[in-house]
Amino acid sequence: MSITLNSPLDMHLHLRDKEMLTLVAPLSAKTFSGAIIMPNLVPPISTKEELLAYKSRILEATKGQTFKPYMTLFFKPTYTKEFLENFEDELTAIKLYPAGITTNSEGGVAGFDVEELRPTLTAMSELNIPLCVHGETNGFVMDREAEFVSIYEMLATNFPKLKIIMEHITTKESVEALDRFENLYATITLHHLLLTLDDVAGGMLQPHLFCKPIAKRPEDREALRKIAFASHPKVMFGSDSAPHPQHAKESCGCAAGVFTAPIAIQVLTELFMKHSTIENLQAFISGNAQKIYNNLKVPKKIITLEKEAFLVPKIYGNVVPLYAGETINYSIKEIES
Ligand code: DOR
Ligand code: ZN
Repeated sequence: MSITLNSPLDMHLHLRDKEMLTLVAPLSAKTFSGAIIMPNLVPPISTKEELLAYKSRILEATKGQTFKPYMTLFFKPTYTKEFLENFEDELTAIKLYPAGITTNSEGGVAGFDVEELRPTLTAMSELNIPLCVHGETNGFVMDREAEFVSIYEMLATNFPKLKIIMEHITTKESVEALDRFENLYATITLHHLLLTLDDVAGGMLQPHLFCKPIAKRPEDREALRKIAFASHPKVMFGSDSAPHPQHAKESCGCAAGVFTAPIAIQVLTELFMKHSTIENLQAFISGNAQKIYNNLKVPKKIITLEKEAFLVPKIYGNVVPLYAGETINYSIKEIES
């Protein structure tokens, strides 16, 4: 039996810059029609010039491939409506990081004072620009996301017209919040559908599975699986594929991020097949996102997969992927665009 997916989208992707961009962008562009591109470069993307220049570098790195980079800005509380209006269709979303919470987030938000955030969030509401949020406090690592739910509630109630996307959710508390507020949405990664903290640190420490937010408990993973497999209309796939060079992962002070881009579609297919929910993968990987992001225009790309063993390379350039050197059970057979 072959499985066909139309215009898969990755709604949370790190492509980095320079050699890393050249290495990883074609791997996403091969199987995905488009992706929401994270702005956490050094320095972060915070002007129209930076955004357009980064977009051109992505298009150059994916030349000849059908792939649309949906660009984002790094959130600052001081963006005005005029400033944001000037981006026209070039700006798809704005990403908010709490200060210092993860890779290159030092310039993020500290304190979450609603009045301080109001100017940018009001302008975004008026212009219908979605807000993507890395939702973690600086509390105890296993509780950070659950603690952040009260900040999501504050944002959702103060800005009822703003679409707020809880990025890479990992807990049952976030899943519960989704249905409490009309304007809350979520992305879910592949690795958080697969892993619990046991896989990361229950035996020998696995640096290539270390990411932010860290994988949680079995009951959390179960809550994520339930809404992903049912293709809950407010959730969409976002890989959070976050490449780091091998030396930065296999070192004292391991960088956070799991690199899943080259195998994400194949493993998602395997997972949805295993749980007898393959009919819902199309909505999870494309349909829901198109609706949530205000009828996103997506390039046409048709991916056909079959149950056939694929040996995952041990390394792509200097980046170790998820399941490096292991066999996965679905392969891409055809790509039409
Ligand atoms: O694991 C992660 N890696 N989580 C993030 O939030 C950022 C990302 C990165 O940029 O490396
Ligand atoms: Zn991310």
